Amino acid sequence: MLTRSKPTWELPASIATTEADFLNRRELCKKIAAGSILAGGPSLIFTPSACATQKKDLSTSLYPATRNANYKVNREITPEKITTTYNNFYEFGSHKNIWRAAQRLQIRPWEVTIDGLVEREIKVDIDTLLKRMQLEERIYRHRCVEAWAITVPWTGFPMRALLDYARPRAGAKYVVMEAFEDQEIAPGQRQFWYPWPYREAVTIEEAANELSMIGTGAYGRPMAKQNGAPLRLIVPWKYGFKQIKSIVRFHFTENRPLSFWQKVQGEEYGFWANVNPDVDHPRWSQATEKLLGTGKQVPTQLYNGYAEYVAELYTGIRKKEKIFY
Ligand code: MTE
Repeated sequence: MLTRSKPTWELPASIATTEADFLNRRELCKKIAAGSILAGGPSLIFTPSACATQKKDLSTSLYPATRNANYKVNREITPEKITTTYNNFYEFGSHKNIWRAAQRLQIRPWEVTIDGLVEREIKVDIDTLLKRMQLEERIYRHRCVEAWAITVPWTGFPMRALLDYARPRAGAKYVVMEAFEDQEIAPGQRQFWYPWPYREAVTIEEAANELSMIGTGAYGRPMAKQNGAPLRLIVPWKYGFKQIKSIVRFHFTENRPLSFWQKVQGEEYGFWANVNPDVDHPRWSQATEKLLGTGKQVPTQLYNGYAEYVAELYTGIRKKEKIFY
């Protein structure tokens, strides 16, 4: 990913919510509601209205979802604090410390559009969509092309269920996903050299693979905004940049689109983006990866260790496309 200097819009630490306050925001809201503490002290940006916004998230009762024990990982789960404070989310800044800025994202109401080569265009409100889907928890490895890795208990639903709901027409070959666009709340989107909105795509076969999930939560609760609430893609055999956050549109098409990063730097970011220790990114060796929070550096596994599920998707493509990555 590109790195740029610290943007001027970042909240100064003096007025931002502390990390502990943020991570304990529900407790805080409960206390405010009970009248045991006053909201909006000098070091807090949580106000009763911020708590009211939290309350309107009708999905909280869906968590924690039952864990699907079929997906096991022989690694320690990364502490939630690391997963929620070390992020890539360029809409909120081109650095890792965006979690405070991302709290501006308004996730209710949230309308999702499903269009293109589908039997019938659908516009659906997030809570209606969630009611139709069976949520489950799965622990997956997550690997960024910058050669760091985390292990996360995601909650979500299989992307195959989304395909059933969307009913793509026969000619549809790709699912293109687009993130929200709102320069008022996402200052990164004022950086005109990026081709907003963030866009990614997978083939219909990849979307239908049993590993592909639409993430709605993590660590037994609704997705933190900085991790891509209320909907993000989870395809654990691919690099993190494929795993688009805060999706508002699923568009079915027969043509392979260019993704956000392909438009920015096509020679560095391919369409497939499958984790591969033998194909280096021009700026990061992919031979090993750093497990955040452990101090360990370990060998990278082909398809991030998920070859048994996905290798067959790519038979033939490896030979046809010179840059597989
Ligand atoms: N989605 C959007 N909308 N915007 C982004 O900048 N960054 C991607 C991906 N999804 C990104 C995005 C990258 S580069 C990575 S590594 C992962 O999100 C990081 O996910 P995490 O912050 O939850 O670990």
